[in-house]
Amino acid sequence: MTNPYDEAYKRSIEDPEGFWGEVARDIHWEKTWDKVLDDSNKPFYRWFTGGRLNTCYNALDVHIADGRGEQPALIYDSPVTDSLKIYTYNELRDEVARFAGVLKAQGVEKGDRVVIYMPMIPEAAIAMLACARIGAVHSVVFGGFAANELATRIDDAKPKVIVSASCGIEVKKVIAYKPLLDGAIDAASFKPEKCIIYQRPMEKASMVEGRDIDWQEAVSRAQPADCVTVEATDPLYILYTSGTTGQPKGVVRDNGGHAVALKWTMKAIYNVDAGDVYWAASDVGWVVGHSYIVYGPLFKGCTTILFEGKPVGTPDAGVFWRVISQHKVKCLFTAPTAFRAIKREDPAGELIKNYDLSDFKALFLAGERLDPDTLNWARDKLGVPVIDHWWQTETGWAICANCLGLHQFPIKEGSPTKPAPGWNLKVLDPETKEPVPPGEIGALVVKLPLPPGALPTLWQNDERFIESYLAEFPGYYKTADAGFIDEDGYVYVMTRTDDIINVAGHRLSTGAMEEVLADHPDVAECAVLGVDDELKGQVPVGFLVLNAGVTRDHDEIIKEVILMVRERIGPVASFKKATVVKRLPKTRSGKILRGTIQKIADNKEWKMPATIDDPSILGEIEEALKTIGLAKSRK
Ligand code: COA
Ligand code: AMP
Repeated sequence: MTNPYDEAYKRSIEDPEGFWGEVARDIHWEKTWDKVLDDSNKPFYRWFTGGRLNTCYNALDVHIADGRGEQPALIYDSPVTDSLKIYTYNELRDEVARFAGVLKAQGVEKGDRVVIYMPMIPEAAIAMLACARIGAVHSVVFGGFAANELATRIDDAKPKVIVSASCGIEVKKVIAYKPLLDGAIDAASFKPEKCIIYQRPMEKASMVEGRDIDWQEAVSRAQPADCVTVEATDPLYILYTSGTTGQPKGVVRDNGGHAVALKWTMKAIYNVDAGDVYWAASDVGWVVGHSYIVYGPLFKGCTTILFEGKPVGTPDAGVFWRVISQHKVKCLFTAPTAFRAIKREDPAGELIKNYDLSDFKALFLAGERLDPDTLNWARDKLGVPVIDHWWQTETGWAICANCLGLHQFPIKEGSPTKPAPGWNLKVLDPETKEPVPPGEIGALVVKLPLPPGALPTLWQNDERFIESYLAEFPGYYKTADAGFIDEDGYVYVMTRTDDIINVAGHRLSTGAMEEVLADHPDVAECAVLGVDDELKGQVPVGFLVLNAGVTRDHDEIIKEVILMVRERIGPVASFKKATVVKRLPKTRSGKILRGTIQKIADNKEWKMPATIDDPSILGEIEEALKTIGLAKSRK
């Protein structure tokens, strides 16, 4: 027996051109493509070559032309400032066109880069869409990153203009953004010509003469700008994500494939239609924010919610239910960690009872493994399907999901269900590169070509794209996740195969943290590992081996390295625990036994590795872990 999912999946794999060519008719094109899938330059596949369109037109103007001008497009709900603002499609288009005019007046043209470093205010989305309107390439940097991380991105993207705001608000704390921006520009080798700063009432940023421009003033003088038609294959944005070193990877997204795929996912995966209210409780600095706060819902003609708050503490663990009921949200997308935070504050779900959630139809979770406790709690308390789906910054949309708009499969705990149409997912043996039998763990890889919307390359770095994703398994994209597919075709994502960890749904590189620790003058050697955390899923822990002869107080050194990570990577790293050890356990060939240390820290069963050079070290590691509240009971 087949169902619409099976049919769509089969067609997407056997006839990708036919499948996506049909899907693409739902987008407004200035000129239809010459070729749906251009494979003339393998392994660089391009979608819809020859096609011309404008992403902003497809997100805003097209709906106005279709009679949705007075429908809310974006609801800014900000418990941290106690404010609410609703933009209709007409209003949002006008704001975006005016800000596009501001950018144009500063000389920003098609192909120029614009870095956006902003808190969760509507102007962040307006700036993104304004770039898309004039064919500029935006690169949004998450506000929780430190000046140094911003500087690295400025140097790579080389933006003509940076758009920022005076501050962000973290629960009750006002975080001044401007000093971070100024610090980043000082540290970067590349200097932007102009910075456009949105002044918020809680913090007034000081402006640099001749360089900084006041957003509000500039907008009041601006002429609205029209949409500029671009090639389907032109870049829409660059989004930097953690790689295995301190140098982040600039994931590129094109215009055509992105619009086609994202609009289609809104119905096929999330089961929402034009006019429905869709809420991704994430941040515009992450891929979820790009795809599902800004672009996806607007392509579909939905009402999107931009929420400036946290799941708890703004003001309480009932805020998600308040937003859902007040704005009649049909579908919510967030990370499991948000639900763990709510569950911890309100385990019985008492606050849910205060709200009418009758419009709410589905909860989607992603960003980290969905633990069965969180899944069951959410399902029992909310009474709607709770859908785990697996994706990455690189993929732009879900590789695996229970595609509610096609066919709802029974849920299996621990599985994001099946590959979404377009994703030819396989499990390969990392040694032989051959497929492994069902149920056996291996490398999760996707047979090329990747579907529309996935990254075509890394920003001005084709070589790193090949080396990071395509070289290890020729003909396949390496997800760097390990897992298995069971007899029923359900996929299980178990662990990363590189040094990436997921902290509260945020992707971080332990290698990048090690680079920071290694810079401390007293540190001879170090390791950073992700250990289990009840709230955040994982948190980083540092192990420091000090230089011979260092007699300083260890606690002082630990405080210093914690501060260094906060200042160089950012508070988002949540690097709060480190310990000093005499040596690191290693194999005889000198590789740090990370897996074993991690198991000890997490109180999991572990075996003495046969290759260890000195077994006595593990006892020392265990003692060190106990001093920071880990490795409580050895099994
Ligand atoms: N600007 C400045 N600082 C920021 C920031 C931003 N945009 N976002 C986070 N930070 C800071 C926080 O203030 C915190 O600093 P602190 O060490 O001084 O307390 C630190 O970075 C860590 O933030 P966060 O990971 O958000 O942890 P938290 O303890 O404040 O909150 C949760 C925990 C679970 C409530 C929170 O992580 C959350 O809501 N997660 C939702 C999941 C999510 O958005 N995932 C994104 C992908 S879907
Ligand atoms: P990011 O690029 O920040 O979206 O992080 C991507 C990584 O997060 C993936 O490679 C996985 O390791 C992890 N991840 C995302 N979603 C899931 C999920 N549903 N289940 C398990 N891991 C996930």
